[in-house]
Amino acid sequence: MNAQIDHALEEIRRFRPSPEFAAQAVADEGLYDAARTDRLEFWADQARTLLQWEKPFTRTLDWSNPPFAKWFDDGELNVAVNCLDRHVDAGLGDRVALHWEGEPGDSRDITYAELTDEVKRAANTLIDLGVREGDRVAIYLPMIPEAVVSMLAVARLGAIHSVVFGGFSADSLASRIDDAEASVVITADGGYRKGRVFPLKPVVDEALEKSAGSVRNVLVVRRGENEVDWNADRDVWWHESVATASNEHEARAFEAEHPLFILYTSGTTGKPKGILHTSGGYLTQAAFTHRNVFDLHPERDVYWCTADVGWITGHSYVVYGPLANGATQVLYEGTPDTPHPGRWWEIVEKYGVTILYTAPTAIRSFMKLGRQIPHEFNLRTLRLLGSVGEPINPEAWIWYRHVIGGGSIPVVDTWWQTETGAIMISALPGVTDLKPGSAQVPVPGISIDILDDDGTAVEGEGGGLLVATEPWPSMLRGIWGDPERFKETYWEKFGDKYFAGDGARRDEDGDIWLLGRVDDVMNVSGHRLSTAEIESSLVAHPWTAEAAVVGASDETTGQAVVAFVILKASQVSHVNDPMEASEELRRHVATQIGAIARPRQVFIVNELPKTRSGKIMRRLLRDLAEGREVGDTTTLADTSIMEVISAQLR
Ligand code: WTA
Repeated sequence: MNAQIDHALEEIRRFRPSPEFAAQAVADEGLYDAARTDRLEFWADQARTLLQWEKPFTRTLDWSNPPFAKWFDDGELNVAVNCLDRHVDAGLGDRVALHWEGEPGDSRDITYAELTDEVKRAANTLIDLGVREGDRVAIYLPMIPEAVVSMLAVARLGAIHSVVFGGFSADSLASRIDDAEASVVITADGGYRKGRVFPLKPVVDEALEKSAGSVRNVLVVRRGENEVDWNADRDVWWHESVATASNEHEARAFEAEHPLFILYTSGTTGKPKGILHTSGGYLTQAAFTHRNVFDLHPERDVYWCTADVGWITGHSYVVYGPLANGATQVLYEGTPDTPHPGRWWEIVEKYGVTILYTAPTAIRSFMKLGRQIPHEFNLRTLRLLGSVGEPINPEAWIWYRHVIGGGSIPVVDTWWQTETGAIMISALPGVTDLKPGSAQVPVPGISIDILDDDGTAVEGEGGGLLVATEPWPSMLRGIWGDPERFKETYWEKFGDKYFAGDGARRDEDGDIWLLGRVDDVMNVSGHRLSTAEIESSLVAHPWTAEAAVVGASDETTGQAVVAFVILKASQVSHVNDPMEASEELRRHVATQIGAIARPRQVFIVNELPKTRSGKIMRRLLRDLAEGREVGDTTTLADTSIMEVISAQLR
């Protein structure tokens, strides 16, 4: 199999779109031409064509106060109406919006008319709970239809949602609630994961004990049927409130720059950043890319993006992009291997999925299990595959195309970030020749470049730092409550160019290859984690004197968290076994931040490699963690230290 793949890689570095695919493709060369001719007019045109504006805009971009962009700012629209009511008004009310599949095998089909109805009821319930325009609502839910309903109900009112991934701990939830000063939390008693109910409401209760106290009400969906404590002054059941609320709700329009959501993501410092997105520009680019990158034909496609709504991919490509485009999609609650390793493929077969969007880490796990598992299912409905979250290695790309896609359908590798809001770099299926391993080219209307460290553009072939050279519609509008940090993080390095934090290389054809983060952000299974955040969690443990965390490359998860910890001298005598300490610290990080941040390994050491100025040399620790020969140690204060540390790891 591997030899076959290597052979394929040598032979075919590029795949032409098939004439049949190209003939029916949504995208065409003309998009690039239009965007090149007049970039702003191109976006204005997309905004007018793809969205319904209650008040048309006359200004496209205001960049008079960089880095604070305003797009379509004198226009008005309602984001939820764009995702729901207008499709019903257009006679598409009976089209299925969501084929929802619960992990235990229960399922629900929800049409656009039903979804609109439910969102109106939820909006009325939120009004009863005092939610008004501009208020923040935290959403901490499993992948159930109510997650989508909640986001849209908040958006409908012009309130701002902050979705917190259900795997985050009470501490992480509390700090996000406090930072945004949320007044309501929407959660569930619990949800299904790996065949069991994982509790959510108890985590919310714990978070609210720790939080500063902005939350007035907790709206609770019944899903897991697990026991929960009830605070009658604060807690409200969804099935008692939303179900009985009126389904009449007249949505009003908001300005295009009205805030839509905050989504927290890890940065280089310990504290997660609340990335702020607004309405008109965000929805324009989410809808545009969803339609053109995934070749969406809403009348016949069944689309499935496997991301959780707790991440940006779930915001833009489960909720806003697909629903703005009137797509029919699958929403799946659980894990890929429950109750059997073919569960995803069973779902593809059951619903006749035509477009699948997932992460390389998932593809690599399936590769390990072998092709016989997907081959037990009929996957012939698939006609387009997408990848996001980290670089997809050519071997995984080829496997995805052959084993899942049957060998001839397009695979699009899409590069973007929480901050960019929507896809920035990707091939257009049916138009671009595909090249495994490369994200390839900026989407029409997006200006990307590669700069060297001094800010000089790398001409032709070569590597450097990835930047966006022009503002784009779905760009972040700031970091919640911290405009200075927004400027420092993204704009200080290169002036008016957006610094993405990724390294990239341009090849001889002009295609872009992403090389991973250049800062202290790790990418574990496509999820962003900050080394600083995990280090501060480790040093918060009473046993820890000092900690250094690195992202070590990992065959399945892309990177894995590896920590090096020095224990406090006063504690060493209490710790009988380094293994025990290491287990305890792994558990501690999972409890403090969430299971996704649990280190793969915690090494207990006596020293850390430092430069003369006291800076930890993570590069050397990464060499150790990846089992490589340790690199250049000449700048270390004590050059023998690496031998001491390596000896301790043996
Ligand atoms: C990485 C996820 C290579 C990158 C949408 C980026 C990728 C970070 C790709 C953003 C890709 C995402 N190829 N790397 N196709 N897509 N990344 O904010 O390092 O969770 O900066 O957004 O993931 O992660 P985030």
